[in-house]
Amino acid sequence: MHDGHCGGERAALSIERLIELRISRRDVLKAAVLGAATVFSARTRAAHAAASASTLTFTEIAHGLDETHHLPPGYSAQVVLRWGDPLFPDAPAFVPGKPDAQGQEKQFGYDNDYLAFLPLPRASTSASHGLLCVNHERCTPQLMWPGMTARDYARHMNAEHCAHEMAAQGFSVVEVRFQGGRWQAVLDSRYNRRITARGPAIAVAGPAAGHRRLKTKADPSGGRVLGTFNNCAGGVTPWGSVLTCEENVHMYFFGDAARHPEAAALKRYGIDGRGRYVWGRYDPRFRLERTPNEPNRFGWVVEIDPYEPQAAAVKRTALGRFKHEGASAAVSHDARVAIYMGDDEAFEYLYKFVSEGRFVPGDPNANRDLLDRGTLYAARFETNGRMRWLPLVYGRGPLTRANGFASQADVVIEARRAADLAGATRMDRPEDVETNPINGHVYVVLTKNPARTRAQVNAANPRAHNKWGHIIEIIPPRVDGASDHGAAECRWEFFLLAGDPQDAKQSARYAGPISSNGWLACPDNVAFDPRGRIWIATDGQDEVANLADSLYAADTSGSGRGSTRLFFNGPRGAEICGPCFTLNGNTLFVAVQHPGDERDSTFDQPSTRWPDFRTDTPPRPAVLAITKHDGGEIGS
Ligand code: FEO
Ligand code: CA
Ligand code: CA
Ligand code: CA
Repeated sequence: MHDGHCGGERAALSIERLIELRISRRDVLKAAVLGAATVFSARTRAAHAAASASTLTFTEIAHGLDETHHLPPGYSAQVVLRWGDPLFPDAPAFVPGKPDAQGQEKQFGYDNDYLAFLPLPRASTSASHGLLCVNHERCTPQLMWPGMTARDYARHMNAEHCAHEMAAQGFSVVEVRFQGGRWQAVLDSRYNRRITARGPAIAVAGPAAGHRRLKTKADPSGGRVLGTFNNCAGGVTPWGSVLTCEENVHMYFFGDAARHPEAAALKRYGIDGRGRYVWGRYDPRFRLERTPNEPNRFGWVVEIDPYEPQAAAVKRTALGRFKHEGASAAVSHDARVAIYMGDDEAFEYLYKFVSEGRFVPGDPNANRDLLDRGTLYAARFETNGRMRWLPLVYGRGPLTRANGFASQADVVIEARRAADLAGATRMDRPEDVETNPINGHVYVVLTKNPARTRAQVNAANPRAHNKWGHIIEIIPPRVDGASDHGAAECRWEFFLLAGDPQDAKQSARYAGPISSNGWLACPDNVAFDPRGRIWIATDGQDEVANLADSLYAADTSGSGRGSTRLFFNGPRGAEICGPCFTLNGNTLFVAVQHPGDERDSTFDQPSTRWPDFRTDTPPRPAVLAITKHDGGEIGS
């Protein structure tokens, strides 16, 4: 496969030069010497912290790795919901070690990932009452049930285990209230809802709806898919619905992928027929021979209106099919809506969708199907600090019959191949892409790509064997004082190149001074607080640095720009997901995913029993609510 289109430009510029060109352009950064010199000893740290004038005033915690989580003094964390917690008055209590799919359908799912807090009542600014919307991405059988290891779980999984896993993934809507100093789930809420891999049916809309490549025996319409799974990150639309993203859907299908009628397309999506999940043993949907089109029905962005519990969720196929990390909405200067999306795999692409229609505040009918018509683009980065959005439109450029595309349905079903042909830039695993509500810049989080060789570096991915990841800042043009998110061309810079700046080999770069605890690796999900400061969650610091996955914060402007500070460490084995603030910034929700998921860690002998620390209970993924003792703004 080709390697982007920056080879010629790369030859002309050294990697160091590429980095310096793109990270040190702002005048405010002049004072911030880049590289190893920005890491300070404990003795000089306080003085430099003052000099950096970060608006963040919390006492930075220390890097570490142990069985529990850590926060700065003056902050506390409360478990709001954990795997197996009842969500309905008639839900059974959590029973460790016993598969129970029916029970799981009424309980909080496994591996909480993306979080959204939607205020109640709708369109209010309430920070004490709302709907917590949660993705449940994956399962770790050896931590869920006794007698299994990471190596042999597939042998032990029976029909009950598989049904339980299907019920444990997907999505939860839970009404929550802050009362008496604690966040509490409201079990008799009319809003509480689970959508899982078992259902209910999800409508399909946009160019691929009803297409023959989506039709199955069980759904001859090609327009109704049973449920959703591997729901990673997501986004909230301006009209108050939630986008939940189907990510690693290749792990679910069994069979002979090489003899499949769409073998090449399956291969491009990593569907090799050797499902990591063994649901296909019991459910023909996941057997390629029995239901050959089922893979085309997953890998989409799903829109759910949490305020309308009776309304069906909808797969918005205009947004393309790939391994969707998240989907973050931004309203453009002209009221069109852009959705920024990463395809989370090494060498994959950054995408955006721009709606044809305009967002009309307060008009549900105008907004309901905005995501069905518009233009899908993939990103191409240039060395000169510009980047272009390449339209993936049937009939334009190479997206023609000659290349196997007969309609826009084919383009969205095979969005990856369309982006290959269009000449998009191959990235270092695009995870979250989020717009800063204060400055309108778009932050593209690239978690890592150790597989990139020296010959494969390009302007936007300048490090070979990138084990640490980086964050790119896209700067859309301003029109009438607002960002043009529909623009075909934007500027870009590096926000940071992660890693430890004390190790020169890593070529880590931060735009401002940081302490020896302030550097990070493998950024994944990010969120912005009400002041536009970035909060960066990590996935994989344990692998590269033997550090817990954590949450860091930094200013995005002023002299504190890019000075990341360590705020939160998760328990060992966990990845930190879904950071999400209430509108006033006084509560920060954090999803702690797969605690204890480490080598040789099992239900019987887990490496941590976070958060309950009961000897009869395995570690449980959980959502924390972090508040300040004085009730003030997080990070202030
Ligand atoms: Fe589900 Fe890309 O993390
Ligand atoms: Ca994850
Ligand atoms: Ca992620
Ligand atoms: Ca990740």
